[in-house]
Amino acid sequence: LSHPAPDPSRLYVALDLDSKDEALALVDRLEGLISSYKVGSALFTTAGPGFVQQLARRGFNVFVDLKFFDIPSVVAAAVGNVARLGAKMMTLHTLGGREMMRAAAEAARGAAGSCGASPLLFGVTLLTSIDERSLSEDLSSRRPLDEQVLHLAGLAVSAGLDGVVASGQELKLLKSRLGSKLKVIVPGVRPQAVSDDQKRTITPRQAILLGADYIVVGRPITRAADPRAAAQEILQQTWPG
Ligand code: C5P
Repeated sequence: LSHPAPDPSRLYVALDLDSKDEALALVDRLEGLISSYKVGSALFTTAGPGFVQQLARRGFNVFVDLKFFDIPSVVAAAVGNVARLGAKMMTLHTLGGREMMRAAAEAARGAAGSCGASPLLFGVTLLTSIDERSLSEDLSSRRPLDEQVLHLAGLAVSAGLDGVVASGQELKLLKSRLGSKLKVIVPGVRPQAVSDDQKRTITPRQAILLGADYIVVGRPITRAADPRAAAQEILQQTWPG
């Protein structure tokens, strides 16, 4: 394994807070340390698109994680809108199908003309809340979970997406089977063994060494007594030296 050069912009802090004011207060506390933020559906639906625009205008990399899933024309319009807010990355569900992903990729490229670089599109394969039982019984899948993840990731790449969101457990398989052209975002990373609802965890250092292009950390920073110290510690652990 190679030792990648330190790049703190690859660490996205998930702003899973209750209001725009709380989110802005955290961003201010992390000033100069964290340059990349993820805005999920809970914060987006209270803080609004203007908040994303505000972060982008302040020079932050913004990952808009709204996991779109709708008919192709609707998803394409939404992707174009998010791109024009200045987001660097966004998500959609691969289960929405090839046509939906193609339309989204085209919309992202189209929006790039008006707002600079084209944002990166990431597919969600299977939510980590889906287990083997719900996959086979509720979703009637005939494939084992890891094969279904691999299948959906392959579909995402062939439909023009830039990569997928994956757990630490899936990371190695995806990188070895689909190659380095597939970018991978790994959420649910944990600085050390802690118990909450993240079942498939990995440390940020392991994730980077296994080839993660981006890592997402939420509660270990947002819920820390001292978020700045927690962020500093995680950056240090991820890229020591
Ligand atoms: O658990 P933590 O607070 O670090 O989660 C950070 C972010 O990662 C959350 O915003 C959540 O949306 C995302 N996440 C995910 N898939 C998971 C776990 C977390 O997309 N399996």
